Amino acid sequence: MARRRQLYEGKAKILFEGPEPGTLVQYFKDDATAGNGAKHGIITGKGVLNNRISEYIMLRLQEIGIPTHFIRRINMREQLIREVEIIPLEIVIRNIAAGSIAKRLGIPEGTRLPRSIVEYYYKNDALGDPMVAEEHITAFGWANPHDLDDMVAMSLRVNDFLMGLFAGVGISLVDFKLEFGRLWEGEEMRIILADEISPDNCRLWDSKTNEKLDKDRFRRDMGQVEEAYQEVARRLGILPEAGNGDLKGSETMQ
Ligand SMILES: Nc1ncnc2c1ncn2[C@@H]1O[C@H](COP(=O)(O)OP(=O)(O)O)[C@@H](O)[C@H]1O
Ligand SMILES: [Mg+2]
Repeated sequence: MARRRQLYEGKAKILFEGPEPGTLVQYFKDDATAGNGAKHGIITGKGVLNNRISEYIMLRLQEIGIPTHFIRRINMREQLIREVEIIPLEIVIRNIAAGSIAKRLGIPEGTRLPRSIVEYYYKNDALGDPMVAEEHITAFGWANPHDLDDMVAMSLRVNDFLMGLFAGVGISLVDFKLEFGRLWEGEEMRIILADEISPDNCRLWDSKTNEKLDKDRFRRDMGQVEEAYQEVARRLGILPEAGNGDLKGSETMQ
């Protein structure tokens, strides 16, 4: 295949020019970062797993009518996506206290929240992705109130659906982060779900044992990171029950 032009290299993925205008190729790396890049490591096989997990979740979401950037998976590490103008916000939905909300508000990790809580962060690495309020978002024009309502409504639907999906395979959806982008179709603009949904940006705990099956294993040096991502994929039915130990050697496989 002809070498594609690289447009952007991020912390976990690389974006290449797609085969047609308005498309991109999203390449999933094994790189992992935490604490806004303070910590860097490689989780062998992560890119392959996140490509598959994100594909699976985006397809399930499309089935319930959530518009997403996902078009199709190309190979083990790449997927074809629709190019959007990313809205510089991270929308976080929380069901159970963990991470920054536990720390900032002194809520013991694992406490079920009285209801799902939506938080906004300004997507800006140089500033460390600071938390912002609706006021900042609309005043600085990152999104207008209508677009923000749209994103929140979609995020809550994604939450309801994914809570059920994961509960069905014995996993609690503790929290997750979404990114959205603007898709222009002539004069019309639609906001669609972009980026990825994977154990890199979801907290997933085993429902029975509360064992962590997500990137917190890397952030907190708990080990068995790849195994945790594999377990999520296996429970979603993406990986076979056994004999998946050759993932690393099969990069060119479809
Ligand atoms: N459909 C899309 N069109 C354009 N940009 C996208 C799309 N989906 C995701 N992105 C952007 O591509 C980048 C993905 O790479 P990643 O490694 O996650 O980068 P970062 O380090 O900026 O988070 C992110 O900046 C994300 O906002
Ligand atoms: Mg990212």
